Amino acid sequence: MENKDQLHPCMIVIFGASGDLTKRKLIPALFDLYTRKQMPEHFAVVGVSRTEFSDDDFRQKLFDFKPDNYSDSASWNAFAKHIHYHAADSTKIGDYAQMKQRFKALADEHQTGENALYYLSMAPQFFEPTINNISAAEMVTEGKRYCSLDRKQKPWQRIVVEKPFGSDPKSATHLNSVLANVFEETEIYRIDHYLGKELVQNLMVLRFANAIFEPIWNQSYIDHVQITASETVGVESRGAYYDGPTGGAMRDMVQSHLLQVLSVMAMEPPVSLKAEDIRTEKIKIFKAMRVPKYDDVPNIAVRGQYGDGQLAGKVIKAYRDTEGVDPESQCDTYAAMKMYVDTWRWGGVPFYLRSGKAMAKKITNIVLYFKPTPHILFRDMAKQRKANQIVINVQPDEGIRIRFEGKVPGHRLAVKDVELDFDYVKQWNAQPPDGYSTLLYDVMLGDQTLFKHRDEIECAWHAVQPVLDYWNDNPQFDLPNYAAGTWGPSAADILMAQSNRYWHNPK
Ligand code: BG6
Repeated sequence: MENKDQLHPCMIVIFGASGDLTKRKLIPALFDLYTRKQMPEHFAVVGVSRTEFSDDDFRQKLFDFKPDNYSDSASWNAFAKHIHYHAADSTKIGDYAQMKQRFKALADEHQTGENALYYLSMAPQFFEPTINNISAAEMVTEGKRYCSLDRKQKPWQRIVVEKPFGSDPKSATHLNSVLANVFEETEIYRIDHYLGKELVQNLMVLRFANAIFEPIWNQSYIDHVQITASETVGVESRGAYYDGPTGGAMRDMVQSHLLQVLSVMAMEPPVSLKAEDIRTEKIKIFKAMRVPKYDDVPNIAVRGQYGDGQLAGKVIKAYRDTEGVDPESQCDTYAAMKMYVDTWRWGGVPFYLRSGKAMAKKITNIVLYFKPTPHILFRDMAKQRKANQIVINVQPDEGIRIRFEGKVPGHRLAVKDVELDFDYVKQWNAQPPDGYSTLLYDVMLGDQTLFKHRDEIECAWHAVQPVLDYWNDNPQFDLPNYAAGTWGPSAADILMAQSNRYWHNPK
């Protein structure tokens, strides 16, 4: 959120470049920036992986994956000249001498100087050896920039680390230490693509650029908050990964994306829009997340796994029948959790988080349910009294909706809920940019606002670990417990019904 000043020349090195993320997200995002003229004048993108490709083969592979995205062939051809490929095993120090030579030649060719953005887009077990090798090969030249006389004159090397960032508090802390041995915190970009989504950023604008929301954004007026990320797809080809130690909805979605969204929704107004001021406020929320008690887990968390089902006429086979998945897997393809943020603002307000695969609808939203009026005047005039709501649709149908009670036209006094609707696409006549382009742009600028601080990650793991431990120790015998294409297990509805609440399940 800092002033977008000039972008410096730089080389973007993608480790693990033959993987899915590069072709699905990173290259389309960089191309998007390129066509919007938001790339530095001098840049190069170098993919590094073990598989052998020539530069041209690599470019073709990227192109073939999304030909429609690159239909402006003149722009693609010009952009593709910046893309290169180098076959190497980043976990083997012996491969680095050649790699460095190649980088040097490409830096000369593209005039990128020594600025480098290392992107770790690989399986998590390769993070540590790769970070250590980057250090041993002296590919971080900047040293401690705080010690230099003129920080602006020194080249930078930044690192972007994808999720999964650890699989529990211990492994996340360890990875943070490995990173800290090589990079300063200011150069470490722990990416969470949900923070790049327009509506998550818009949440800060909604809250802090307006006077009408903030006074009611607290425990005096809000009954509870729901944060949902439901997907219609199952695990598809990712069965082996998802069924492993970093998979499952609690780890894959709740611990990372949903807690991040919660922190932006719940934070106090920062003193400025500087990254450090915003992150300071987010960290306070992470520190205030109440760590559930192990014995209380059955009362506050629900796990689910999808069985056979149907969605829009399409048959979806059970999770356990997916390739790479243990036929007796206990993995949670659905997780719901009730949690509290112990601050003055949020004391006593439950936050209900849920995420699942193979559900009835793809939606990510935040719903604030307000308390009833202190005196209910219109008790008999509405068929069913509904709470006031603010619904922030993160995706799809990006927008913000406010639901309140209105009078039904006519002589008799009747009350019904009505909506004020801000629809992003209609309002701006534009599709929201992909989160990855926003985030890559920010890394090149050196703006850490939308990236996670080490404390946020470690606290987030602490907040979910008792649930994971309990689930690990106590197998559940009724799995699968929801049919694909539905809103999840009935136990999740019971969790809400216990306090007379219900999930916001849009049609
Ligand atoms: C990823 C998860 O981080 O987010 C995936 O690993 C999930 O399992 C994806 O499908 C969802 O992202 P989005 O942007 O489609 O909501």
